[in-house]
Amino acid sequence: MTIIANQEEVTPAVLEVMEQTTDPRLREIMQSLITHLHGFLRDVRLTETEFQQATKILNTMGQQSNDKHNEFVLMSGSLGASSLVCLLNNGDNGLTETTQSVLGPFWRLGQPMTENGGSILRSETPGPRLYGEFTFLDQRGAPIEGLEVDIWHASPVGLYENQDTSQAEHNLRGKFLTEADGKVRFKSVKPIGYPIPTSTTVGDLLKAQDRHPYRPAHVHVLAHKAGYKTLINQTYVDETEYLTSDVQFGVTEALIGKLERHTGPHPEDGDVGEWFTLFHTLTLEPGESRLPIPPIK
Ligand code: BEZ
Ligand code: FE
Repeated sequence: MTIIANQEEVTPAVLEVMEQTTDPRLREIMQSLITHLHGFLRDVRLTETEFQQATKILNTMGQQSNDKHNEFVLMSGSLGASSLVCLLNNGDNGLTETTQSVLGPFWRLGQPMTENGGSILRSETPGPRLYGEFTFLDQRGAPIEGLEVDIWHASPVGLYENQDTSQAEHNLRGKFLTEADGKVRFKSVKPIGYPIPTSTTVGDLLKAQDRHPYRPAHVHVLAHKAGYKTLINQTYVDETEYLTSDVQFGVTEALIGKLERHTGPHPEDGDVGEWFTLFHTLTLEPGESRLPIPPIK
Protein backbone atom coordinates (compact mmCIF):
# COMPACT_ATOMS: atom_id res chain seq x y z
CA MET A 1 0.00 0.00 0.00
CA THR A 2 1.29 3.48 -0.87
CA ILE A 3 0.34 6.83 0.67
CA ILE A 4 -3.16 7.77 -0.53
CA ALA A 5 -3.12 10.68 -2.99
CA ASN A 6 -6.84 11.39 -3.49
CA GLN A 7 -10.37 10.05 -2.96
CA GLU A 8 -10.11 7.71 -5.92
CA GLU A 9 -7.25 5.84 -4.31
CA VAL A 10 -9.08 5.07 -1.05
CA THR A 11 -11.18 2.17 -2.34
CA PRO A 12 -8.36 0.20 -4.02
CA ALA A 13 -6.19 0.73 -0.92
CA VAL A 14 -8.88 -0.70 1.37
CA LEU A 15 -9.64 -3.58 -1.00
CA GLU A 16 -5.94 -4.48 -1.05
CA VAL A 17 -5.98 -4.75 2.74
CA MET A 18 -9.19 -6.82 2.66
CA GLU A 19 -7.24 -9.30 0.49
CA GLN A 20 -5.32 -10.28 3.62
CA THR A 21 -8.44 -11.75 5.27
CA THR A 22 -7.52 -15.37 5.90
CA ASP A 23 -10.98 -16.92 5.85
CA PRO A 24 -12.14 -17.02 2.18
CA ARG A 25 -15.83 -16.39 2.93
CA LEU A 26 -15.07 -13.46 5.24
CA ARG A 27 -12.73 -12.12 2.54
CA GLU A 28 -15.48 -12.31 -0.08
CA ILE A 29 -17.96 -10.57 2.24
CA MET A 30 -15.55 -7.80 3.23
CA GLN A 31 -14.46 -7.10 -0.34
CA SER A 32 -18.03 -6.84 -1.53
CA LEU A 33 -19.03 -4.78 1.50
CA ILE A 34 -16.25 -2.25 0.85
CA THR A 35 -17.08 -2.06 -2.86
CA HIS A 36 -20.78 -1.38 -2.17
CA LEU A 37 -20.19 0.86 0.86
CA HIS A 38 -17.74 3.08 -0.97
CA GLY A 39 -19.97 3.05 -4.05
CA PHE A 40 -22.89 4.17 -1.90
CA LEU A 41 -20.87 6.98 -0.26
CA ARG A 42 -19.91 8.23 -3.73
CA ASP A 43 -23.40 7.77 -5.11
CA VAL A 44 -25.11 9.93 -2.45
CA ARG A 45 -22.00 12.10 -1.87
CA LEU A 46 -22.46 11.66 1.85
CA THR A 47 -21.65 14.90 3.68
CA GLU A 48 -19.54 15.05 6.84
CA THR A 49 -22.58 16.02 8.91
CA GLU A 50 -24.58 13.10 7.52
CA PHE A 51 -21.69 10.76 8.25
CA GLN A 52 -21.58 11.95 11.86
CA GLN A 53 -25.34 11.49 12.12
CA ALA A 54 -25.05 7.96 10.70
CA THR A 55 -22.46 6.85 13.25
CA LYS A 56 -24.54 8.43 16.04
CA ILE A 57 -27.63 6.52 14.83
CA LEU A 58 -25.77 3.19 14.91
CA ASN A 59 -24.39 4.01 18.33
CA THR A 60 -27.89 4.86 19.61
CA MET A 61 -29.34 1.65 18.12
CA GLY A 62 -26.77 -0.33 20.09
CA GLN A 63 -27.72 1.49 23.28
CA GLN A 64 -31.42 0.86 22.60
CA SER A 65 -30.86 -2.90 22.30
CA ASN A 66 -30.95 -5.13 25.34
CA ASP A 67 -32.22 -8.57 26.47
CA LYS A 68 -35.81 -7.54 25.80
CA HIS A 69 -35.45 -5.32 22.73
CA ASN A 70 -33.48 -5.87 19.52
CA GLU A 71 -33.34 -2.67 17.48
CA PHE A 72 -31.18 -4.22 14.75
CA VAL A 73 -33.74 -6.94 14.01
CA LEU A 74 -36.44 -4.27 13.77
CA MET A 75 -34.29 -2.14 11.47
CA SER A 76 -33.18 -4.95 9.17
CA GLY A 77 -36.81 -6.01 8.78
CA SER A 78 -37.94 -2.44 8.13
CA LEU A 79 -35.36 -2.20 5.32
CA GLY A 80 -36.44 -5.51 3.76
CA ALA A 81 -33.08 -7.14 4.50
CA SER A 82 -34.47 -9.92 6.73
CA SER A 83 -37.05 -10.92 4.15
CA LEU A 84 -34.50 -10.88 1.33
CA VAL A 85 -32.01 -13.04 3.25
CA CYS A 86 -34.80 -15.51 4.02
CA LEU A 87 -36.03 -15.77 0.43
CA LEU A 88 -32.49 -16.00 -0.99
CA ASN A 89 -31.65 -18.93 1.27
CA ASN A 90 -34.82 -21.04 1.16
CA GLY A 91 -37.10 -22.63 -1.42
CA ASP A 92 -34.14 -24.23 -3.20
CA ASN A 93 -32.16 -21.00 -2.79
CA GLY A 94 -34.86 -18.66 -4.03
CA LEU A 95 -36.12 -20.75 -6.97
CA THR A 96 -39.36 -22.11 -5.52
CA GLU A 97 -42.07 -21.14 -3.05
CA THR A 98 -41.18 -21.61 0.61
CA THR A 99 -42.98 -21.58 3.95
CA GLN A 100 -39.87 -20.19 5.60
CA SER A 101 -40.15 -16.67 6.94
CA VAL A 102 -38.33 -14.24 9.23
CA LEU A 103 -37.85 -15.02 12.92
CA GLY A 104 -38.58 -11.55 14.27
CA PRO A 105 -37.39 -10.26 17.63
CA PHE A 106 -39.78 -12.13 19.96
CA TRP A 107 -38.80 -15.81 19.89
CA ARG A 108 -37.67 -17.10 23.30
CA LEU A 109 -35.83 -20.30 24.19
CA GLY A 110 -37.53 -22.66 26.61
CA GLN A 111 -41.18 -22.24 25.67
CA PRO A 112 -43.35 -24.51 27.86
CA MET A 113 -43.92 -28.08 26.61
CA THR A 114 -47.62 -28.42 25.82
CA GLU A 115 -49.57 -31.54 24.92
CA ASN A 116 -50.75 -31.71 21.31
CA GLY A 117 -54.20 -30.12 21.24
CA GLY A 118 -53.55 -28.15 24.43
CA SER A 119 -53.94 -24.47 25.20
CA ILE A 120 -51.16 -21.88 25.16
CA LEU A 121 -53.14 -19.47 27.34
CA ARG A 122 -51.21 -19.10 30.60
CA SER A 123 -53.21 -16.20 32.00
CA GLU A 124 -56.64 -14.79 31.25
CA THR A 125 -56.50 -13.31 27.75
CA PRO A 126 -59.76 -11.87 26.45
CA GLY A 127 -60.49 -12.32 22.75
CA PRO A 128 -62.11 -14.75 20.31
CA ARG A 129 -60.86 -18.33 20.63
CA LEU A 130 -58.52 -19.65 17.96
CA TYR A 131 -58.04 -23.35 17.20
CA GLY A 132 -54.88 -23.88 15.15
CA GLU A 133 -54.04 -26.97 13.13
CA PHE A 134 -50.68 -26.93 11.38
CA THR A 135 -49.49 -29.87 9.26
CA PHE A 136 -45.77 -30.46 8.69
CA LEU A 137 -44.68 -32.30 5.55
CA ASP A 138 -41.39 -33.23 3.95
CA GLN A 139 -40.67 -32.27 0.34
CA ARG A 140 -42.33 -35.47 -0.94
CA GLY A 141 -45.53 -34.60 0.93
CA ALA A 142 -45.11 -37.18 3.76
CA PRO A 143 -46.03 -36.10 7.32
CA ILE A 144 -43.09 -35.61 9.69
CA GLU A 145 -43.39 -37.29 13.09
CA GLY A 146 -41.43 -36.19 16.14
CA LEU A 147 -40.89 -32.59 15.07
CA GLU A 148 -40.39 -30.19 17.94
CA VAL A 149 -42.58 -27.16 17.19
CA ASP A 150 -42.56 -23.81 18.99
CA ILE A 151 -45.68 -21.67 18.54
CA TRP A 152 -45.88 -18.06 19.73
CA HIS A 153 -47.91 -14.99 18.89
CA ALA A 154 -49.11 -11.60 20.08
CA SER A 155 -52.28 -11.16 22.13
CA PRO A 156 -55.59 -9.77 20.84
CA VAL A 157 -54.35 -6.33 21.92
CA GLY A 158 -51.20 -6.79 19.86
CA LEU A 159 -48.57 -7.39 22.55
CA TYR A 160 -46.23 -10.33 23.17
CA GLU A 161 -46.08 -11.43 26.81
CA ASN A 162 -42.57 -10.03 27.20
CA GLN A 163 -43.93 -6.59 26.26
CA ASP A 164 -46.95 -6.72 28.57
CA THR A 165 -46.85 -7.05 32.36
CA SER A 166 -50.53 -8.08 32.45
CA GLN A 167 -49.71 -11.40 30.75
CA ALA A 168 -48.19 -14.39 32.58
CA GLU A 169 -44.69 -15.60 31.71
CA HIS A 170 -44.81 -17.49 28.39
CA ASN A 171 -48.47 -16.63 27.75
CA LEU A 172 -49.32 -17.46 24.10
CA ARG A 173 -46.17 -19.54 23.77
CA GLY A 174 -45.88 -23.33 23.66
CA LYS A 175 -43.73 -26.19 22.45
CA PHE A 176 -45.38 -29.22 20.80
CA LEU A 177 -44.35 -32.56 19.32
CA THR A 178 -45.92 -33.81 16.10
CA GLU A 179 -47.40 -37.30 16.01
CA ALA A 180 -47.50 -39.67 13.02
CA ASP A 181 -49.94 -37.41 11.15
CA GLY A 182 -47.39 -34.56 11.23
CA LYS A 183 -49.89 -32.22 12.88
CA VAL A 184 -49.79 -29.76 15.75
CA ARG A 185 -53.12 -28.62 17.19
CA PHE A 186 -53.29 -25.82 19.70
CA LYS A 187 -55.87 -23.65 21.43
CA SER A 188 -55.33 -19.94 21.78
CA VAL A 189 -56.93 -16.58 21.07
CA LYS A 190 -57.05 -14.85 17.71
CA PRO A 191 -54.08 -12.51 17.22
CA ILE A 192 -54.46 -9.10 15.61
CA GLY A 193 -52.06 -7.02 13.55
CA TYR A 194 -49.77 -5.02 15.81
CA PRO A 195 -47.36 -2.12 15.54
CA ILE A 196 -43.67 -2.84 15.94
CA PRO A 197 -42.14 -0.70 18.72
CA THR A 198 -41.86 2.90 17.50
CA SER A 199 -40.27 4.78 20.38
CA THR A 200 -36.75 4.09 19.12
CA THR A 201 -34.68 4.73 15.98
CA VAL A 202 -36.84 2.58 13.69
CA GLY A 203 -39.86 4.65 14.72
CA ASP A 204 -38.02 7.84 13.67
CA LEU A 205 -37.34 6.30 10.26
CA LEU A 206 -40.97 5.23 9.78
CA LYS A 207 -42.18 8.72 10.68
CA ALA A 208 -39.71 10.31 8.28
CA GLN A 209 -41.09 8.07 5.52
CA ASP A 210 -44.76 8.44 6.46
CA ARG A 211 -45.03 4.67 6.97
CA HIS A 212 -47.40 2.90 9.36
CA PRO A 213 -45.71 0.55 11.86
CA TYR A 214 -48.11 -2.42 11.55
CA ARG A 215 -47.50 -6.10 10.93
CA PRO A 216 -50.45 -8.21 9.73
CA ALA A 217 -51.86 -10.68 12.31
CA HIS A 218 -49.79 -13.86 12.43
CA VAL A 219 -48.75 -16.92 14.40
CA HIS A 220 -45.03 -17.73 14.62
CA VAL A 221 -43.72 -21.28 14.19
CA LEU A 222 -40.26 -22.76 14.67
CA ALA A 223 -40.00 -26.48 13.87
CA HIS A 224 -36.92 -28.66 14.11
CA LYS A 225 -35.82 -32.27 13.97
CA ALA A 226 -32.49 -33.85 13.00
CA GLY A 227 -32.22 -34.23 9.23
CA TYR A 228 -34.41 -31.22 8.35
CA LYS A 229 -33.48 -27.59 7.92
CA THR A 230 -35.05 -25.78 10.86
CA LEU A 231 -38.31 -24.22 9.69
CA ILE A 232 -38.90 -20.66 10.81
CA ASN A 233 -42.37 -19.62 9.78
CA GLN A 234 -45.02 -16.97 10.28
CA THR A 235 -48.53 -18.00 9.31
CA TYR A 236 -50.64 -14.99 8.44
CA VAL A 237 -54.28 -14.85 9.39
CA ASP A 238 -55.84 -14.26 6.01
CA GLU A 239 -58.36 -11.55 6.91
CA THR A 240 -55.98 -8.88 8.09
CA GLU A 241 -55.72 -5.50 6.41
CA TYR A 242 -51.93 -5.22 6.57
CA LEU A 243 -51.11 -8.22 4.35
CA THR A 244 -50.15 -5.93 1.49
CA SER A 245 -48.38 -3.26 3.54
CA ASP A 246 -46.42 -5.18 6.20
CA VAL A 247 -43.84 -2.84 7.72
CA GLN A 248 -41.39 -5.80 7.71
CA PHE A 249 -42.01 -6.89 4.08
CA GLY A 250 -42.58 -10.44 5.39
CA VAL A 251 -45.71 -11.66 3.61
CA THR A 252 -45.61 -14.14 0.73
CA GLU A 253 -48.54 -16.17 -0.63
CA ALA A 254 -47.19 -19.41 0.84
CA LEU A 255 -47.41 -17.96 4.35
CA ILE A 256 -51.12 -17.16 4.34
CA GLY A 257 -53.12 -19.63 6.40
CA LYS A 258 -56.78 -20.56 6.05
CA LEU A 259 -58.90 -18.82 8.68
CA GLU A 260 -62.53 -19.83 9.21
CA ARG A 261 -65.07 -18.15 11.50
CA HIS A 262 -67.60 -20.21 13.46
CA THR A 263 -70.55 -19.19 15.58
CA GLY A 264 -72.13 -22.47 16.81
CA PRO A 265 -70.86 -24.40 19.85
CA HIS A 266 -67.31 -25.74 19.66
CA PRO A 267 -67.34 -29.60 19.52
CA GLU A 268 -65.04 -29.90 22.58
CA ASP A 269 -65.40 -26.62 24.44
CA GLY A 270 -69.12 -25.91 23.93
CA ASP A 271 -70.36 -22.33 23.90
CA VAL A 272 -67.30 -20.13 23.47
CA GLY A 273 -68.99 -17.36 21.47
CA GLU A 274 -67.49 -16.58 18.09
CA TRP A 275 -64.46 -18.81 17.40
CA PHE A 276 -61.96 -19.36 14.59
CA THR A 277 -59.98 -22.19 13.09
CA LEU A 278 -56.63 -21.63 11.41
CA PHE A 279 -55.23 -24.30 9.11
CA HIS A 280 -51.89 -24.28 7.38
CA THR A 281 -49.51 -26.76 5.77
CA LEU A 282 -45.78 -26.21 6.13
CA THR A 283 -42.96 -27.94 4.27
CA LEU A 284 -39.48 -28.69 5.56
CA GLU A 285 -36.43 -29.09 3.35
CA PRO A 286 -33.70 -31.59 4.15
CA GLY A 287 -30.74 -29.98 5.88
CA GLU A 288 -29.20 -28.99 9.15
CA SER A 289 -31.38 -28.72 12.23
CA ARG A 290 -29.90 -25.69 13.98
CA LEU A 291 -31.65 -23.34 16.38
CA PRO A 292 -31.31 -19.61 15.67
CA ILE A 293 -29.64 -17.27 18.17
CA PRO A 294 -32.52 -16.05 20.38
CA PRO A 295 -33.01 -12.30 19.74
CA ILE A 296 -34.25 -11.80 23.33
CA LYS A 297 -34.05 -13.80 26.57
C1 BEZ B 1 -42.57 -10.30 14.48
O1 BEZ B 1 -43.26 -10.85 13.66
O2 BEZ B 1 -42.67 -10.66 15.64
C2 BEZ B 1 -41.67 -9.22 14.05
C3 BEZ B 1 -40.84 -9.43 12.99
C4 BEZ B 1 -39.97 -8.44 12.63
C5 BEZ B 1 -39.95 -7.24 13.32
C6 BEZ B 1 -40.83 -7.03 14.37
C7 BEZ B 1 -41.69 -8.03 14.74
FE1 FE C 1 -44.71 -11.40 15.36
